[in-house]
Amino acid sequence: MNTLSFPNRPGRSHRKTIAVAAALACLFLSQAGAADTTSQAPTYLGDIQPIFMASCSRCHNQSTRFVYNWLDYQTAYADRWEIKRRLWDSWKGSYYKEAMPIANSPESLALTDADRETIRKWVDAGSPRGVAPANDGAKTKAERIQLGHRLFVICAACHQPTGRGLPNLFPPLAGSDYLNADKNRAIQIVIGGRRGDVIVNGLKFNNNMPAFPLSDQDVANVLTYVYNSFGNSGLEVTPEDVKAARAQAPAPSTQPAAKSAFE
Ligand code: HEC
Ligand code: HEC
Repeated sequence: MNTLSFPNRPGRSHRKTIAVAAALACLFLSQAGAADTTSQAPTYLGDIQPIFMASCSRCHNQSTRFVYNWLDYQTAYADRWEIKRRLWDSWKGSYYKEAMPIANSPESLALTDADRETIRKWVDAGSPRGVAPANDGAKTKAERIQLGHRLFVICAACHQPTGRGLPNLFPPLAGSDYLNADKNRAIQIVIGGRRGDVIVNGLKFNNNMPAFPLSDQDVANVLTYVYNSFGNSGLEVTPEDVKAARAQAPAPSTQPAAKSAFE
């Protein structure tokens, strides 16, 4: 366990209280954690696919031709042992092939040790598919924002936790004129991906956003969170909006490239 140290902070007794509180917290957490692992193995839809969306999708998506699409369960299942070796063994130094995500990528810096462990446990447990978590709990806009906040880790991998994006790579969601101009178009981008030229707040980008396999509810929640954060317009996106958008043909500029050979 880490010792808490606050170099410029008050005297011994205070530190001791903090240490005791921390020890109790760790005890509690480790027991809760232990109970968790024995009762439930991680599943693809419940635990793994969200990690893959955030940490692998930029390179491993439905339109890449030379690397596998981990957003597809069958593909991930078929290559599960290699996933474990690259995510765990290579990372620990006991497998000779390159560790994933590729060294020094934003994804490799953002992926937590706990995420790696979850992936390892998932493979060891036989890589079950599971069921998508029932997220139809949001009844109010406030609840939508709260649930959407959790999903935003997926977007933050590229658009950054601040929503400000990265120059030449990922356009901003913060105060984005493009986002705020057209709700339906924003929904289409999240469900269908986007590639090609786009101008956001006067800056030009030409890159590729993968399509995400998210439910209507999740798309509604994450976009409502985005619209109500970072100085955006504050509107709400409902699952009905997403359903309606899915029924339309995608705009030509949001059409993903031809399907990969791995599907
Ligand atoms: C920055 C791009 C990038 C990211 C992010 C990335 N990968 Fe990769 N991955 C590649 C490339 C390129 C290859 C092919 C070269 C190789 O095999 O090392 C590859 C190969 C692999 C392979 C080997 C497949 C095989 O059977 O040969 C696995 C497994 C893998 N990646 C898993 C992952 C997982 C899981 C993640 C997310 C946690 C991830 N990668 C994130 C670029 C990436
Ligand atoms: C793997 C990287 C990546 C992830 C993850 C990602 N995006 Fe994007 N996003 C992009 C790129 C790249 C573009 C610009 C695509 C282009 O050039 O056509 C973009 C464009 C957009 C746009 C339109 C331009 C703008 O900035 O207003 C919106 C809206 C958007 N993304 C929302 C999201 C949301 C919401 C999520 C999370 C569910 C998300 N993105 C996750 C890479 C990503």
